[in-house]
Amino acid sequence: MHSRLEFQPNAALRIKPAVMKKATPFSPRESAAVYRAIRERRDMRHFCGGQVPSDVLQRLLQAAHQAPSVGYMQPWRFLRIQNHDTRVRLHALVEAERIETARALGQRESEFMQLKVQGILDAAEVLVVALADGRERHVFGRRTMPEMDLASAACAIQNLWLAARVEGLGMGWVSLFEPAELAVVLGLPEGASPIAVLCLGPVEGYYAEPMLAQQHWAQCEALSGLVFDDTWGKASAVFASQAGSPPANEDH
Ligand SMILES: Cc1cc2nc3c(=O)[nH]c(=O)nc-3n(C[C@H](O)[C@H](O)[C@H](O)COP(=O)(O)O)c2cc1C
Repeated sequence: MHSRLEFQPNAALRIKPAVMKKATPFSPRESAAVYRAIRERRDMRHFCGGQVPSDVLQRLLQAAHQAPSVGYMQPWRFLRIQNHDTRVRLHALVEAERIETARALGQRESEFMQLKVQGILDAAEVLVVALADGRERHVFGRRTMPEMDLASAACAIQNLWLAARVEGLGMGWVSLFEPAELAVVLGLPEGASPIAVLCLGPVEGYYAEPMLAQQHWAQCEALSGLVFDDTWGKASAVFASQAGSPPANEDH
């Protein structure tokens, strides 16, 4: 009698070997450019109108669509808001939630009300990202953590964010809205759920550091305090030396 473990290698052999591409290394300039995009991406709320040419928008959406997703479910759907009235309705939903959020913050209410938290009426483009309907069919990687669909869509948004920075555009992720109300405005099917209003377009510049840090709302956490070895709270040896800095960009 074979144990289940003995059968597994045989089953694996029946699967065709993966087709691989040569692991071409990134040149030092290419590596530096990738790390620069990661470092200089900012959540933007100040835009200067203009346009995003459709070939650029296509590239950005393609970058988003190349994101990893749990069980390759690709749960993301993008709604490009072209109707001005719809934009105004989205803005009103965000404004309503901004006030609710301020109230919920208690002591920090007035401080929060000073912050700029969206650029919906100023950005060249507004995209709403929604999770698709019918997600319950996807069990691979989600049986114990159904929220992995959200994690996957967030990966797509991050790709878009980085690509926008590379294209010299700004992007801001707005999550201050009541999803059920936004779903009605956009005619989403039952089971689909909006997760982001993305403001995208030309900007005059990028905040030198996260705007919420500039405004003293929150500060960057020391990474060494967030990485543990083996058990929660055990400081990681990886930060014993300072050798892990990303390659410097030669142009900057
Ligand atoms: C899931 C998610 C939701 C966010 N929602 C908002 C939002 O509603 N309004 C806003 O001003 N910023 C929002 N942000 C942007 C964060 O405030 C921002 O990422 C953070 O302050 C760090 O700044 P940085 O992205 O420039 O590094 C969101 C970011 C994420 C990842």
